[in-house]
Amino acid sequence: MPIKTVIFDAYGTLFDVDAAAREAARSHPVLAECWPRLSADWRRKQLEYSWLRSLMGLHAGFDSVTADALDWALDAQGLADVALRRRLLDLYQALPAYPEVPAVLETLAARRVPAAILTNGTPGMVARAVAAAGLESRFATLLSVESVGIFKPAPRVYDLVLERFAVEPAAVLFVSSNGWDIAGAGAFGFRTLWVNRAGLPVDRLPHRPARIAPDLTTLMDDLA
Ligand code: LAC
Repeated sequence: MPIKTVIFDAYGTLFDVDAAAREAARSHPVLAECWPRLSADWRRKQLEYSWLRSLMGLHAGFDSVTADALDWALDAQGLADVALRRRLLDLYQALPAYPEVPAVLETLAARRVPAAILTNGTPGMVARAVAAAGLESRFATLLSVESVGIFKPAPRVYDLVLERFAVEPAAVLFVSSNGWDIAGAGAFGFRTLWVNRAGLPVDRLPHRPARIAPDLTTLMDDLA
């Protein structure tokens, strides 16, 4: 079935989640030594807290989950630095897009294939990220889990795509750098492209990716 809509995950897929710690480390000698570890811990805890809150039925906005995860990561490095915490959270509001993202979105627009984001991020977070990267005109809509109050990979989240676009699941290409998000989207019936930026093994979950690529540059191959 031809692809009619392309749905992107946001963090780690379009926006560089390591950029906040990398940038803050430039003016912070202690962070300069440990930023890769802090950034990895921050992301891992952010995702773990999202899944755990969903299981516990205790949803909170992704901005608050992100701050909680950062507090854990700073604590793990013995970094009790209020100004650094503020700076990292501010930088997270304007993460840069990966280098190939603008051109890929431009090509989709030229081919008149609607593109959208489906993210754990709050509407405010994702709107700020898209605006900071100058990509507002490239998306038909920005879909946030906040309208259903549970995080990915809950099926109710992927259903937001079908509520917004009148398409069959098999006509949706879902693009994510998160293996678990790909599994959730595949289980829902979307065609999937796993952007394996980190060169990780395939997750041992049901619904393996339909295709794997190191970045977004070959995305058009999936539209054929
Ligand atoms: C998102 C996270 C999961 O944007 O990357 O939804």
